[in-house]
Amino acid sequence: MNKNKINKNLNNQLNLENYSSNLYLQMSAWCNIENYKNASIFFKKNSEEELKHMEKIFNFLCDINILPILNFNIYFKINFNSIQDIFKKAYINEKKITRNINYISNIAFKKRDFKTFHFLSWYILKQNEEEKILKTILDNLKFFNYNNKNFLIFDNLFLSKYI
Ligand SMILES: [Fe+2]
Repeated sequence: MNKNKINKNLNNQLNLENYSSNLYLQMSAWCNIENYKNASIFFKKNSEEELKHMEKIFNFLCDINILPILNFNIYFKINFNSIQDIFKKAYINEKKITRNINYISNIAFKKRDFKTFHFLSWYILKQNEEEKILKTILDNLKFFNYNNKNFLIFDNLFLSKYI
């Protein structure tokens, strides 16, 4: 059984969660400066959640005596053009996370590593939830003509449900 492959991918997932936390914190800052207050709170809360997701994997690896390795080279400067751009990028990021979770889950299941598979099942459900929220927000954004003035209305009326 190739446990190393599973652990390597779990460690990769840990870094993706950490990256997501920073990405959403940056998005929160952008929204704050642009006066999209609820969107800013939304991404700040998401950033904090991603950090917890990272810590869960960190603890899991420590529990099975695997040293978590934080990768400081995955960060790059990212620019946002608009509020729509931000939500699209957040959705793309979550889809990427889902693909990775599914990939590791598949390996863990095939290798009969049920402990890891069980651990990852929480993430599978979580990803479904996170993708659904972002998809709903993106779908609703279409009714607001994708302009910044309209988004202020959207920010006040719609996003308040998600914070
Ligand atoms: Fe996450």
